[in-house]
Amino acid sequence: MSLLRLDSDTTSLLLECAEGRGGSAPLWRYFGRRLVEGAAPFGGLGDSRALPSFHPDEQAMLSLVPTHSAGWFGPAAVRAHRSGRDWVQQWTACEEAWDGESLVITLTDDVSGVAVEQRVRLDPASGVLTLSARLTNTGVGDLTLDWLAAGTVPLPTHAASVTSWHGRHNVEFQEETAPLTRSTWSRENRRGLTSHEDWPAALVTTEDGVIGAHLAWSGNHRQAIEPLDDGRYAWQAGAYLSPGEVILAEGESYTTPEWLVAYGADRNAMSQAFHADMRARVTWPTGTMAPRPVHINSWEGFYFDHDEAALMALADSAAALGVERFVLDDGWFKGRDDDTSSLGDWVVEPSKYPRGLGPLAQHVRALGMEFGLWVEPEMVNPDSDLYRAHPEWVLGQAGRRDVTARNQLVLDLTRADVRDYLFERVAALLDDLPIAYLKWDHNRVLTHAGERAAFSAQVDGAYALFARLRAAYPAVEIEACAGGGGRIDAGILRHTHRFWTSDCIDATSRVAMQRAFLAFFPPEVMGSHVGASPAHSTGRMQGMDFRAAVALPGHFGLEFDTRHMAVEEVAKLTEWLARYKDLRGEIHGRPVWQGAEKDGLLWQAFGDADGLLLFVTRLQFPTLAHPVPIRLPILAERDYRVEAVWPAADTRIENGAWLAAHGLTLPPQKAESVRIVRLTAL
Ligand code: GLA
Repeated sequence: MSLLRLDSDTTSLLLECAEGRGGSAPLWRYFGRRLVEGAAPFGGLGDSRALPSFHPDEQAMLSLVPTHSAGWFGPAAVRAHRSGRDWVQQWTACEEAWDGESLVITLTDDVSGVAVEQRVRLDPASGVLTLSARLTNTGVGDLTLDWLAAGTVPLPTHAASVTSWHGRHNVEFQEETAPLTRSTWSRENRRGLTSHEDWPAALVTTEDGVIGAHLAWSGNHRQAIEPLDDGRYAWQAGAYLSPGEVILAEGESYTTPEWLVAYGADRNAMSQAFHADMRARVTWPTGTMAPRPVHINSWEGFYFDHDEAALMALADSAAALGVERFVLDDGWFKGRDDDTSSLGDWVVEPSKYPRGLGPLAQHVRALGMEFGLWVEPEMVNPDSDLYRAHPEWVLGQAGRRDVTARNQLVLDLTRADVRDYLFERVAALLDDLPIAYLKWDHNRVLTHAGERAAFSAQVDGAYALFARLRAAYPAVEIEACAGGGGRIDAGILRHTHRFWTSDCIDATSRVAMQRAFLAFFPPEVMGSHVGASPAHSTGRMQGMDFRAAVALPGHFGLEFDTRHMAVEEVAKLTEWLARYKDLRGEIHGRPVWQGAEKDGLLWQAFGDADGLLLFVTRLQFPTLAHPVPIRLPILAERDYRVEAVWPAADTRIENGAWLAAHGLTLPPQKAESVRIVRLTAL
């Protein structure tokens, strides 16, 4: 037996290539905390195990690409058949190669006519393991593929629980933790886009840290953790395939999305690994991230009620507050007075903008702000010129009633002519207007998508459209939105620069949502706005300071009518915008830490042992008489200047080792309040 070992600074993986076992796939021996040099098993996994009673006489063990063959009863990475035949895959050859970045294991089965290329990349810098698989039909006749895991990873025997996120529109990122038991844990998303309901990520807590995983895919998915009979667990993820969705002709291939997996000694370490990977995915117009500009978004202030003069006045008031980017949301295009019509007709509504959008855009620019525009290219309303001209462009099935959602249908992005039309419409806007930013929405789920299920092909079509527009207009930034946070994933992040986290801007609700978002994604791509009070989504009322401080760490913005504010509110908000501009460089692109102390103290910190910006949030009024100290294990054995950024308080010197072990005691906080403190190493 020989061992294949990959290491990053934090993580090791060890695969066993068994000799004398024909073409079997490498066996999983280890994935987790980095091993010291020389830490290796003495013998092969099979040699170290007695054959259990009532088992096949050949040992079947968890491999990199397990299949239903030779007595393996655990989860298979491949489920495929040829009209019911060739349903067993048993590898007859295994080749390893290194493409400079990834280990590429090619497994072939001459009997069933299937080959799988499993790519394994452990990024030395971030520690993120990226897995993807490509299956090719090398046999005779069509091959139906029901499932191909992007990867299979082992979880250790001491893996204890799995945390994942569910939700709905306005209620994104609801965290749920379940114990790992002898039952399979799984989540399947069949809604056609990333979804609010089943987010394609999870994290597993073990006795030795945390392992997180995220599928870089904006469509249907499946993730599952199955207990094995040696006490370990096999974790898999991939695109969920509907019946008949992938039928490969001879020589054709199917490639899975990438699955990102990261080990961390704790949740913060895991998050930091993902942040490094996510940050590398974003392609900024100038090559590096410019300071994230303060937004104003017209939606909650105006909804569909557009009027050129009123929106120019909104721009005036926003610019006076210090806003840097003005985004004109839904309601600007032909006949769009509510959500019942017009999606697909991407031309300006003349009654609202008799001179087109040019004067408003120029007005915004003259005020020193960028101009952004909302679009929802993948959608069409039955009441639209586009639908009347091309009813056949809808993604549906002949003979079946199209199911509308928010009165709209989905365009078939697997068609080149549909993609061309959308490219031309969006390109015409980008050519005509000085647009720096698109808010790209997707406000419904997919139902019976295509004569043959086209869920994956639809996602590929959308990605192709994004890629074509990005290539043609590289200076334009894009936000991914889907009824708030319905399309937040690492797949679409390759094409975009920001996520609209949720249509719920209520700061109290946002606290938990944003903490969950930050488990995988960095703050600079987290759209977070100051909304109205009472909040339109929940009806709750909150003070300006709390709303602004909760939004501040993300990509900050405003989303209410700033034309009619009390003088004191204008002063407060102006200060918050200036504070955001002061602080964003200490937050965005920096390591993120999150923690909690008893009695409801939640904290987030940005930076490292040289300097840390600390946000302490309290939602409920404390039950204890004295504030609980906040332990900051990030700090070094040095002295720190502890300076109140907001609200004002005295500056003092504290010892870092003491703050790490005992904690930082701050003045008492009221319910729904945030305190911002800067710690600087002396
Ligand atoms: C979705 C978005 C909102 C807004 C509306 C416009 O709900 O999440 O922010 O853009 O669409 O219709």
